[in-house]
Amino acid sequence: MSERAMSGFDELTHVRAKEVIARYPVARSALLPLLHLVQSVEGCVSQDGIRFCAELLDLSTAEVSAVATFYTMYKRTPCGEHLVSVCTNTLCAALGGDDIYRRLSERLGVGHEETAGEPGTTGSLTLEHAECLAACDLAPVIQVNYEYFDNQTVESAERLVEALQRGEKPHPTRGAPLTDLRTVELELAGFTEDPTVAAAAVAGNSAAPETLRGTMIAAERGWAAPAFPDEIPALPEKS
Ligand code: FES
Repeated sequence: MSERAMSGFDELTHVRAKEVIARYPVARSALLPLLHLVQSVEGCVSQDGIRFCAELLDLSTAEVSAVATFYTMYKRTPCGEHLVSVCTNTLCAALGGDDIYRRLSERLGVGHEETAGEPGTTGSLTLEHAECLAACDLAPVIQVNYEYFDNQTVESAERLVEALQRGEKPHPTRGAPLTDLRTVELELAGFTEDPTVAAAAVAGNSAAPETLRGTMIAAERGWAAPAFPDEIPALPEKS
């Protein structure tokens, strides 16, 4: 283990890293949560963070870099207190997502994956445009640290970032209460420092009426999916 790669990470992070690795029968399977652990400490995955993971998992830095640069949730430059993700995929874009992103970008003076304010300080915000956030029925949507703010407008999005910049934590439309990006990254690695936050996250309302509408109509009308056959049909022969 090189001193350089390990020097930026404290004893607690080493203990947690070992705990993550112990969850898996094969050490390299721990790479994704380990990268989240690194991000919870650094606010991004730096070159030192890549070396840290590589050395602990006996991988090459090229292998770790390939993963860290493939998934958009891993950031290569330090993020703000909050990550603001604006969906600009087809449905959200058509309903105003592009306008929201453009307005926030102008207001904050930053572009994709850039940070307004000193990274990590209260009220600092990293902006990104995101692909479909799987909430098209509530478009246009924004996520802050992966928590949903549904049915946004340019005006409501501006009010949201203004509140975040003032250090406030507006309540998401559904899901867990807002914390900050590093706390969420630690949770994604499988740790929580405040059990009450974890309990609140689980207790949060995760379903919107729009999403449940089809199920409710089916229940009102007595519709049900066909029963699963007792006998599993044979697979067709390969030709
Ligand atoms: S297109 Fe925005 S959530 Fe699907």
